[in-house]
Amino acid sequence: MQSKLINGFQHIKYEGLDFAPTETEKKARSFLELMDKRRSIRTISSRPVPKSIIENIIKTASTAPSGAHKQPWTFCAVSSADIKSKIREAAEKEEFESYQNRMSDRWLKDLEPIGTDWHKPFLESSPWLIIVFKKVYDEIDGSKANNYYVNESVGIACGMLITAIHQAGLVTLTHTPSPMNFLSEILNRPVNERPYLLLPVGYAAEDTYVPDLKRKSLNEISEFY
Ligand SMILES: Cc1cc2nc3c(=O)[nH]c(=O)nc-3n(C[C@H](O)[C@H](O)[C@H](O)COP(=O)(O)O)c2cc1C
Repeated sequence: MQSKLINGFQHIKYEGLDFAPTETEKKARSFLELMDKRRSIRTISSRPVPKSIIENIIKTASTAPSGAHKQPWTFCAVSSADIKSKIREAAEKEEFESYQNRMSDRWLKDLEPIGTDWHKPFLESSPWLIIVFKKVYDEIDGSKANNYYVNESVGIACGMLITAIHQAGLVTLTHTPSPMNFLSEILNRPVNERPYLLLPVGYAAEDTYVPDLKRKSLNEISEFY
């Protein structure tokens, strides 16, 4: 691999993907078709998923860009039945409270077509739960070191995680039980880490149905200048 010093720091030659324009057209179209099939799935089967697949999915997420390349994330992958059931119990307690007392009427109305409620059986049935923690700062030699654009960085990494899960033929749900502090306790995470998202991962259960949602058109989501 070719390398050289720039401003005193080692740089390596960028070996990017180099497609002919027609190939790029094809790639962009076929990736859209692939991603358009992604859906949030709430009925996940208990069919096992090998750990090696989860490892590669997590490694893919960690290729995401991040502020000053701090990679301010920890992905906790849980397959232990005991921990999953603790997480389900704690999540359902919070979700029950949210659905009964915390969510506005408007919010509950917006959720009606999706059909969610406080029951979260997928937290136990899924072979894996990936809990993403954002590192609000790092601890280096006992002192605090800043991370930058943490929410943006971890959000992008989660998008790539979801994409990696989908393209491997698996399914997930972006789950945000609120508040989520119980995840720090159950997983015994350090104080510089805050729970960000909880993603059950596995295969879709047989005969899974999803809400018939329509996505906004290109005109509605973009402006070209
Ligand atoms: C930040 C975020 C939080 C979400 N939280 C939940 C959740 O707690 N429970 C749930 O069932 N779905 C949750 N969703 C999933 C959305 O309901 C879903 O993405 C949306 O209805 C569009 O459906 P689709 O993902 O199948 O395209 C969340 C999505 C996002 C992006």
